[in-house]
Amino acid sequence: MKRDKDVKVSEKEIEIQKTYMEQIRGLNALQNKKFVVNTFGCQMSESDSEKIAGMLVEMGYSQTEEVDQADVIVFNTCCVREHAEEKILSRLGQLKAYKQNNRDLIIAFGGCMAQQLHVVEKIKKSYRHVDIIFGTHNIHRFPELIYCALSSNKMITEVLDIDGVVPEGLPVSRKDGLKAWVNIMYGCNNFCTYCIVPYVRGRERSREPQDIVREIQLLASQGCYKEITLLGQNVNSYGLDRKDGRAFPELLREVNKIDGLERIRFMTSHPKDFSDDLIKAISECEKVGEHVHLPFQSGSTRILKEMNRKYTKEQYLELAEKIRNAVPGVSFTSDIIVGFPGETEEDFEDTLDVVRKVRFDLVYTFIYSKRTGTPAAEMQEQIDDKTKKDRFDRLLETVYSIVQENNEAMIGKVEEVLVESVSKNNDEMMTGRTRTNKIVNFAGDKSLIGKLVDVRIQSQHMWYLAGEIVAN
Ligand code: 5AD
Ligand code: SF4
Repeated sequence: MKRDKDVKVSEKEIEIQKTYMEQIRGLNALQNKKFVVNTFGCQMSESDSEKIAGMLVEMGYSQTEEVDQADVIVFNTCCVREHAEEKILSRLGQLKAYKQNNRDLIIAFGGCMAQQLHVVEKIKKSYRHVDIIFGTHNIHRFPELIYCALSSNKMITEVLDIDGVVPEGLPVSRKDGLKAWVNIMYGCNNFCTYCIVPYVRGRERSREPQDIVREIQLLASQGCYKEITLLGQNVNSYGLDRKDGRAFPELLREVNKIDGLERIRFMTSHPKDFSDDLIKAISECEKVGEHVHLPFQSGSTRILKEMNRKYTKEQYLELAEKIRNAVPGVSFTSDIIVGFPGETEEDFEDTLDVVRKVRFDLVYTFIYSKRTGTPAAEMQEQIDDKTKKDRFDRLLETVYSIVQENNEAMIGKVEEVLVESVSKNNDEMMTGRTRTNKIVNFAGDKSLIGKLVDVRIQSQHMWYLAGEIVAN
């Protein structure tokens, strides 16, 4: 469905929020106030957190990692799995002590969890030390919410039950100085039956191509940003909601033209929307890495139908083959769920079969988690914990042995590596990634950061490869 109304946050609203930021900056002047943003969940959450951090910086706060020194603590949450939700609430409970030590501390609870009514009720009732509850649709209004919290002792709740908007023009404080996330769309229309995301993030809204290109041009012109990742729950349906219908492959080609960038990545791709033109664009655009994150969730056509994924096992395998033929050396990664309601041993074997056939380089494996409000939560035949755990372990075993074999096959090859930073565990080693997104460690120095170097792979260590530079 094409939308005919503009969903961009109005310039007037952004101006209002800028005024709030200025006022708070005035209040904070010379006070050395600090903030912490705790992010849970996917890259979308990470990207939202960078906007929240950007606004806090504009308000005169500086970022710290020390929770006990913070004047503002933000929890930007995820609700994809129940276990993660429980952990987040337990950590939120621990903040009560900080609030008792510092009565001026502001605690803000936002993101996907806060978009669920029952969670909001729970926070209001049992987590009285929280000052602000905000959702995913009103991040741009964060300055006003902070302003209200500074001038009142009451808990402020603003969770909007709307289909979301597209915020433009917010300040962003990026975590990384070399790689940047760039949102190209928000929300999801797919309603996979296990997934809560469409309920908490609303329908798909694509940003205007010129806004995206402008943001990337600005990043590239800074000189330090060498890699960008175009983000969306399903980037393959980018633009389909917009009147001009500019689709994802076209956007990729436009971004590829931007000077100063070395690498372009994108995630996540839904197999049902992976067009031939996208495959062509990946193979044509020299900056787009040979890596596709292509979640398949289950290898069983019957379970895929129950999941509302809209492709069969065979269609997924055909798609992977088609991409592999058009993009030589492409690396696949995926998301897999085990223990979806009704999953039999035979269904699970189909999942292992897809893993063996596609030979992924990395798989994010999940045990099915029942999410209230989703169709799968109502399904009979929920799988018992022991069976889920057993299948999960067997899946990991299969994935690990394939990852290792893939890595071993790389030994002796020369790979183009974008150097990212000094290695975490060894000062004399640098770390970077191949075009296919594999981590490579090698001896070198800081002057190489941001450069492309050729590295001969010498050994594999499951999560990374090690090698030596052969030429600059
Ligand atoms: N249980 C387990 N995993 C889930 N995911 C989404 N919803 C659930 C759920 N209810 C996984 C999917 C998705 C990834 C981001 O999280 O694999 O691709
Ligand atoms: Fe969830 Fe499916 Fe949308 Fe991904 S495509 S966010 S799994 S509903």
